Amino acid sequence: MRLTNYLLSSVVSKRPFYITTPIFYVNAAPHLGHLYTAVLADAIQRFEKITNSDINVTFSTGTDEHGTKIQQAAAKANLSLPDYCTTISQEYKYMFKEYHIEYTDFIRTTEERHLKAVQHFWRRLVKDDYIYKAKYSGWYSVNDEAFVPESHTKEENTHDGKVRVSVESGHKLEWTEETNYMFRLSAFKTQLQQWLRTDGVIRPSKFQKQLQDMLENEVYFPDISVSRPASRVHWAIRVPDDEEQSIYVWLDALINYLSVIGYPDEDLMKQKNRPWPADLHVLGKDILKFHGIYWPAFLMAARWPPPRGILCHSHWTVDGVKMSKSLGNVVRPPLNAAGTAYGTALRYLLLREATLQDDANYSETKLINVANSELADTLGNLVSRCCGPALNPRAELPPLHPRGLEPAVTDQLMTQVDRLPEICHKHYSNYQFYKAADAVMSVLRTANQFFETSKPWELRKDPSRQKELDVVLHLTLETLRICAIILQPMVPDISERLLDKLQVPKTCRSWQHCETASWRVKGAIYEAKNIQAGKFVLFPRIYTEKKVKKASV
Ligand code: MSP
Repeated sequence: MRLTNYLLSSVVSKRPFYITTPIFYVNAAPHLGHLYTAVLADAIQRFEKITNSDINVTFSTGTDEHGTKIQQAAAKANLSLPDYCTTISQEYKYMFKEYHIEYTDFIRTTEERHLKAVQHFWRRLVKDDYIYKAKYSGWYSVNDEAFVPESHTKEENTHDGKVRVSVESGHKLEWTEETNYMFRLSAFKTQLQQWLRTDGVIRPSKFQKQLQDMLENEVYFPDISVSRPASRVHWAIRVPDDEEQSIYVWLDALINYLSVIGYPDEDLMKQKNRPWPADLHVLGKDILKFHGIYWPAFLMAARWPPPRGILCHSHWTVDGVKMSKSLGNVVRPPLNAAGTAYGTALRYLLLREATLQDDANYSETKLINVANSELADTLGNLVSRCCGPALNPRAELPPLHPRGLEPAVTDQLMTQVDRLPEICHKHYSNYQFYKAADAVMSVLRTANQFFETSKPWELRKDPSRQKELDVVLHLTLETLRICAIILQPMVPDISERLLDKLQVPKTCRSWQHCETASWRVKGAIYEAKNIQAGKFVLFPRIYTEKKVKKASV
């Protein structure tokens, strides 16, 4: 079915744009960090869609369901493995629906199509001699599902005595000796180094540099083990023709990006508009090495080109502390937030606060303050004031008369609005959502000031000043239309409601429609247009007693 989609899309010859989130482990319910990865990817694909009418977006996400961690979690939950995986996978789907994650494909690694892809990929590596069998011993982290080189381990004192942990993740390690299949990672060092020199292939550049440094460091470059004894990791895809070995969960997981687009159908490779290489893998810094070193090497070995880009983000801490089950500070996004201020506020906060380079900090107080001051006051109030019956009883976008107001006041707003689309386009293109939000809010603050200083409530009392009132309302409503188009990738639900309120046709909501304000259009609007009448609250203030659920699971 999916293959048919691609064939059809190639007929209409739209350019493919393929963006992915990591697939999420089902060993626990989704939390704020997981939601962030997905919201970031979603905002990017929404921006791509409103700026390019000629692209065909594939936006994939899903769940990573194999491995020891999942075995343990299912046992703890007292559920069969398939039931357990389905339950948590379903929670991700609910969460994505609630937070408007508009994915086109949700893949589970326990699906048949994925099993086929992984086995095919494996055989391909074996055929070209990139996989061999060997005895392997080393420090193993069940939590990271990875062997950790000795030099990246340290001893730590705990109440159970001395334990060895991974320096990178802090997770406990066990000395493990087993027979494994190995992948010739070392054969790809030079090719990887070349790929990593491609300008902007990993963004932000700080993370590209990190990977380049890793490659300089020999320690990262031994071959890697790509199987585990099935006796230990039984909930996994078996190595083809060897029932005693399970395929390494990371190899299994990474291949999801190919399963989604129909691999192993080799005809895909020959298609003109095939959605590969992926345009962007979005992921957090904890899994950068897997995507920036292992994945391109696996692909090179299988003779598939590596991804065009990787976007790596930093982490969310909570009240200044790393989220962890043991600390009980894991923030679970509420799953009944659809259409409520909380859902919108959380999505907005995630994009508005986080920079990619540095960790961001979540606190409920911050969520409430940001949402109330920016979405409720700066944006929502302005909407209510200029759409409400007190000042706009006919519910219309009044005509734009030749200036009826002091140029100094109107000019500042108009100039800022004129510049806004270009500024935000640049920030969105650089994935700097926080800067775009800042720019929009700054224009909206100017619009609020303009509204205040124009005193429309006084103009309303004096019929001879109707035209001045019209100009105030027109400029403000036009500013709101432009801001609503720009905000669509960040807060799609309230942007849509606002554009509906302003009766902006669905076909007039793409980026080009925010680039020219009405006052720049030759022979502008000289006739009033209707907006939706009736009571309208864009974003209700949030009061502290409604708590965002914090749970330790
Ligand atoms: N299953 C692997 C990915 C395989 S992709 C082929 C995995 N899953 S995960 O559920 O642990 O993480 C999924 C995403 O959530 C990652 O991008 C990770 O960085 C992100 N986050 C997990 N905790 C996070 C924070 N505290 N803050 C921000 N994002 C973090 O890794």
